[in-house]
Amino acid sequence: MIVLGSDHGGLELKNEIKKLLEERGLPCEDLGTHNGDSVDYPDFGVAVARRVSEGSAEKGILVCGTGIGMSIVANKFPGIRAALATDVFMATMAKEHNNANILVLGGRVLDTQKAREMVTAWLDTAYAAGRHQNRLDKITQLERELKG
Ligand code: RB5
Repeated sequence: MIVLGSDHGGLELKNEIKKLLEERGLPCEDLGTHNGDSVDYPDFGVAVARRVSEGSAEKGILVCGTGIGMSIVANKFPGIRAALATDVFMATMAKEHNNANILVLGGRVLDTQKAREMVTAWLDTAYAAGRHQNRLDKITQLERELKG
């Protein structure tokens, strides 16, 4: 299950990404926003990140105007590795090296075609593990320490 969320600044692109996931037959759930009214991005970032953090969704995609606000919010959650990407290389590396479980995009930064290519790259790239797992383990350990 892939959960999707956006604010008004990411609504249009989020809807395009939803179409892509549906075309590919991937189960997805749109947690809003559902219209162009001005909303607060943390509300939707929390909804998506909570689902991934708790394990009821495997992955999430978040879109706000720049992607910055959504990535700040999502990375507050334990176990979340939310990656803000601006091109296909970053989206690929977000999976290959960081095993990002949430991809964050900027609706006012990307055109639809580029965003589709990025989502495709993130979905289709395998996590390389190996030396990268050691690094992710350090992040997990840090989360434990900071939690006290
Ligand atoms: C909303 O105008 C805008 O601030 C938001 O979409 C996002 O870019 C925040 O990081």
